[in-house]
Amino acid sequence: MSNTEATGPGRVLHQPMTAHYPEMAGKVAVITGAARGMGARFAAGLATRGVHVVAGDLDDAAMTATADELSAALAAESVADEPGRIVPSTLDVTRAEDHVALARRAIDEFGRIDFWVNNAGIFPFAEVPDVTPEQIRATLSVNVEGVLFGAQAAAARMRPGSAIVNMASVSAVRVRRGRAAYCSSKAAVAHLTESLAVELGDQGIRVNSIAPGYIDTEMTRWIQDDAPALEKALAAVPLHRIGSPEEVFGVLLFLLSDSARYVTGHSLAVDGGSRHV
Ligand SMILES: NC(=O)c1ccc[n+]([C@@H]2O[C@H](COP(=O)([O-])OP(=O)(O)OC[C@H]3O[C@@H](n4cnc5c(N)ncnc54)[C@H](O)[C@@H]3O)[C@@H](O)[C@H]2O)c1
Repeated sequence: MSNTEATGPGRVLHQPMTAHYPEMAGKVAVITGAARGMGARFAAGLATRGVHVVAGDLDDAAMTATADELSAALAAESVADEPGRIVPSTLDVTRAEDHVALARRAIDEFGRIDFWVNNAGIFPFAEVPDVTPEQIRATLSVNVEGVLFGAQAAAARMRPGSAIVNMASVSAVRVRRGRAAYCSSKAAVAHLTESLAVELGDQGIRVNSIAPGYIDTEMTRWIQDDAPALEKALAAVPLHRIGSPEEVFGVLLFLLSDSARYVTGHSLAVDGGSRHV
């Protein structure tokens, strides 16, 4: 199956393979890094199911454009439930105060926060001798501190029964050459998720992570544009293809839903089996 059709937020509404959770309608989600890629897909998929979304990103113009595009598509398509509203917001996940402001925005707009998805991430390349202090600090700041600050802001506003999902990666458990900073940051996310699950469990908040393999977004454009590298990468994926953001969304939906209400501190791989090769 080709996933080349899966890019671009405008195509997000057609999601026939993902489940429908009627109990989610009217709930409220916050998603970071939602201007494009998986974050945009998550925003659209949740809004299609009647969930209101506060969508934050560093790229203010792209976030507004994506929210406008998705809102227009939602209005044009007939969906089962009354669609949720998507509210764009500027946020730098490295700044704890931005998360607090994002949470306040959600409360001001919708009065509650049920779901928080720490999705924003960066994926720098450098062989170990070339990793600069700036690069490792930026990577840990966005990918790890961004998750911690998001969870703190979420937990301060959430009620029992709420759920947080963090984007880890198959790179948390597999070494990728040139990605030492990224891999170590995602290993930290996987472990941080477990710490958060233990401590926030006292408040009835569940915390899980998703560990995607190669997914069709801008983040993997470099390998999709390099045929030999792509062939080599896919040889190490038991399902022999790149995954689509929609396939990750299906797992996100499950982890947020009541179907997963006794699941916390778990990392769910969406990687075509690549963590085993
Ligand atoms: N695409 C993959 O194959 C893949 C695989 C494993 C894990 N992941 C993880 O999934 C998440 C989403 O990945 P994607 O492929 O959609 O990425 P992407 O690069 O397409 O989108 C990332 C978004 O995060 C935003 N962002 C970056 N820094 C930010 C900051 N400081 N504050 C706020 N927003 C910021 C960007 O502007 C962008 O809109 C990331 O955490 C990534 O590490 C992706």
